[in-house]
Amino acid sequence: MHRSFLTLALASATITPAFAQADMIGSGISPSAAAHSQTRPINFATTAPTSGALVILMRNAALPVNIVDAATTQALNAAIASAKFEGKEGSSLSLRGIGGYARIVLSGVGAEGDRITHIRNASGKAAQDLRDEAQQVTITGGLNQDEAAAAALGYAMGQYRFDRYKTVDRKAPPTNAVTIISSDAGSAEALWMSRHAALAEGVALSRDLATEPANVIYPETFVERVRAAFGNTANVKIEVLDEPMMRKLAMGSLVGVGQGSRRPSRLMIVEYRGAGDGPPLAMVGKGITFDTGGISLKPGAGMWEMKADMSGAANIMGALLSLAKSKAPVNVIGVAALSENMPGSNAQRPGDVVRTMSGKTIEILNTDAEGRLVLADANEYIVANKKPGALINMATLTGSIVAALNDEYAGLFSRDDRLAAAIAAAGTATGEEVWRMPLHKNYLDDMKSDIADIKNVVEGGGPGAGLGATFVGFFVDKNVPWAHLDIAGVNWADKSGPVTPKGASGWGVQLLDTLARNWR
Ligand code: BES
Ligand code: MN
Ligand code: ZN
Repeated sequence: MHRSFLTLALASATITPAFAQADMIGSGISPSAAAHSQTRPINFATTAPTSGALVILMRNAALPVNIVDAATTQALNAAIASAKFEGKEGSSLSLRGIGGYARIVLSGVGAEGDRITHIRNASGKAAQDLRDEAQQVTITGGLNQDEAAAAALGYAMGQYRFDRYKTVDRKAPPTNAVTIISSDAGSAEALWMSRHAALAEGVALSRDLATEPANVIYPETFVERVRAAFGNTANVKIEVLDEPMMRKLAMGSLVGVGQGSRRPSRLMIVEYRGAGDGPPLAMVGKGITFDTGGISLKPGAGMWEMKADMSGAANIMGALLSLAKSKAPVNVIGVAALSENMPGSNAQRPGDVVRTMSGKTIEILNTDAEGRLVLADANEYIVANKKPGALINMATLTGSIVAALNDEYAGLFSRDDRLAAAIAAAGTATGEEVWRMPLHKNYLDDMKSDIADIKNVVEGGGPGAGLGATFVGFFVDKNVPWAHLDIAGVNWADKSGPVTPKGASGWGVQLLDTLARNWR
């Protein structure tokens, strides 16, 4: 190659300092250092402007009083009658050319069910529907402070986008402000600033981590990203174990999963203490930054989705960020068990036996059942070193849970009814719902290995999600209240939901945030 051409090519490429090293892996060209396009800033006010795009949240067919002037009210009532709009939850009516408004959207929240959730959802849907609306956006509907803060949260989650890698035809959507109207605008804004904004930030962190491709997010860069998100947030301590440290601790199960990859494994531990010395609630997440299946290689179709196989860990870090940034009065530990599952020349093989930190041995009959392997050591480490009051696992663990529950529920497995009930309640409150699944004692007998203590799969089928959960539970001290959430069906939205634009959902950030605040 011509020397001058080489120089030119190098000069025009983006080489980030972290890549520009002798031990560089891959092309060394980062896809982009650009940020995502701007979203709308969120404001609060007591009265709505008389122009722009107006979203009116409706319980039924009756317009909330004193929202718009008399002439506009009359025109809207005529439209409501003509369209037979009843304000049913999830319904909407989009109108143009009324009064001074460019657009008025009547959005149903219904009169039944959880009003806060319905308002959050209607606002999230409005954020998506009005994405390309050039005008300023106003959301109104007789909202009190909690409802207004929920509308802000919904809007923030609904307007999430991931477009930093688009360089051609990147349409910068309008960034005029969205204003939420409430007679308690001041306290609504205070609530938003002190709590919900941090939750939205946690959800966005989780979605970013899961959406980023695996050439960008691998164990080391996951750690970097999460560190950067926390910055110097008060009362947060971050510890990271690298491979030599984990080998020294005899974490053969976790390190074994990553041994086929050039990207070394990590165990990231984020501890937030907002409530003194009490025992923390520990949340340990599966952080497989890419799951090829390893030597038990997955088929090619859809394999790209396995870039999000670290969603459990990402959601946990999102929840920790929310709790820490909102100064919640809780003690929590978030853990990311980070590996890349690759079929390299040093990869573990089907039939290999590994020893965990606990001393227990595992016969690996399928290298694609790797999530349970990283969780085994991570759980052991946390129980031994952090003495948690309860332990929750979150993992995209099995295809089996997708077959059972699809994207409506995460599977909940627990040995502790009180913890299970608290998780179910947090799920209902946040709209991130769970369905309890069984942990029959015979499942463990089915997992007995001929040559080790336990095998990681039962060949020839069986209740896959339950067997996976049983395996994980085998490595948790029976005296620690424990639950496991299998999120393989809910971590990715194949189609947009009210607060989840198509793509990584961040499912569980809200649930864990609520659970931590309510758990004692
Ligand atoms: N990450 C997958 C599970 C998964 C499947 C997540 C589909 C999201 C969508 C996990 O590591 C896996 O490969 N599980 C295997 C286990 C089997 C080998 C016992 C599965 O479910 O097929
Ligand atoms: Mn797998
Ligand atoms: Zn996996």
